[in-house]
Amino acid sequence: MKMRRLIPLLIVGLSLSAAFLAAQEKPSISANLALTPPMGWNSWNKFACNVSEDMIKSMADAVVSSGMKDAGYVYVNIDDCWQVSRDANANIVVDPQRFPHGMKPVGDYIHSLGLKFGVYSDAGSKTCAGRPGGLGHEYQDAIQYAAWGVDYLKYDWCNTTTQDARASYANMRAALDATRRPIVLSICEWGTAKPWLWGQQVGGNLWRTTDDINDRWGVKEKWPNGSCCSYGVMAIIDEQVGLQSYAGPGHWNDPDMLEVGNGKMTDTEYRSHFSLWAILSAPLIAGNDLRDMRPEIHDILTNKEVIAVDQDALGREGERVAKDGDIEVWAKQMKDGSRAVILLNRSSSEQEITATWEELGYPSTLSASVRDLWQHQDLGKLTGKFSAKVASHGVVMVSVKP
Ligand code: GLA
Repeated sequence: MKMRRLIPLLIVGLSLSAAFLAAQEKPSISANLALTPPMGWNSWNKFACNVSEDMIKSMADAVVSSGMKDAGYVYVNIDDCWQVSRDANANIVVDPQRFPHGMKPVGDYIHSLGLKFGVYSDAGSKTCAGRPGGLGHEYQDAIQYAAWGVDYLKYDWCNTTTQDARASYANMRAALDATRRPIVLSICEWGTAKPWLWGQQVGGNLWRTTDDINDRWGVKEKWPNGSCCSYGVMAIIDEQVGLQSYAGPGHWNDPDMLEVGNGKMTDTEYRSHFSLWAILSAPLIAGNDLRDMRPEIHDILTNKEVIAVDQDALGREGERVAKDGDIEVWAKQMKDGSRAVILLNRSSSEQEITATWEELGYPSTLSASVRDLWQHQDLGKLTGKFSAKVASHGVVMVSVKP
């Protein structure tokens, strides 16, 4: 080839390679989000469509005054029903009765308390409550969210007909990143298209693994209209088995928001629910009325030793390491080499449960310090195993540290 023809080709080739390398090296604006599982509050589980500026602001106040903020809860997230229509320019319209000053002042107020602001939308034409969805308006909505100061978007999956989940969420992540505001993307696709297989690649920071949680202990049940299914806490944890390797810093399995304090489970069951979410490295998004918490509920949601298990910097998700009927042992490897351990009793009577060191990945001859994370008590040094009596539907949660 003549030199005259080769030089332009070389120049094009070099610029393409430089552009490719630059694209590879350029850190995404959302690269460092949710390095530990997100913690916050969301309106849906308690209030459903009954959201308003006053309620959200008073809840943000309560995050601070209750000590939840000090315990690590930071996001205040408005779920479905804040939106009513689109205007002539297709801009999303906020419910003028419920949010009379629009969304920006709500976000500003939340930020003024040192907290972060989240909203909800849907990848389809309508949200699950029938409000306008984001389909076809992803970039327009993302610009709007960024202008309001949104830090977290929960993106649902109702009314998506034949849409491809992976492509739809990738599109929304691209739209959010194009605003240059770092926004956590919560994929709420209920596990239908196995988002644990692709959620991280499309820039999702968390993805729901099941259909909606219900404030009850048990297994899954049909909704009153006959559709499948609402999940109790036990139904949800059964579906987390085998998913643990997909979670890590920046990308988490989401077994749905907390029901702690919503009134239909016992305090023992709420303690188990919270402990299991922590060992699963799940997002801890409270869903109760924080303005009106009994001390027992407050003490569950703000147990710093259990929260530290959830927020461990290694970002390993815990797993079920033993099951014998209604008796289970769950364990999570922590950054310092210790293990967080749950003895879970699903049965209707008290049971003695044992976790062996082999189940935790330790040699049986190892001596380790055991500490009860609910009693806040050191239980001394033990070799080979730890046993405890566990109440019906209860847990004993300990750390085992060589
Ligand atoms: C779906 C989601 C819920 C909630 C509702 C709102 O069911 O899974 O978490 O956001 O929609 O309509």
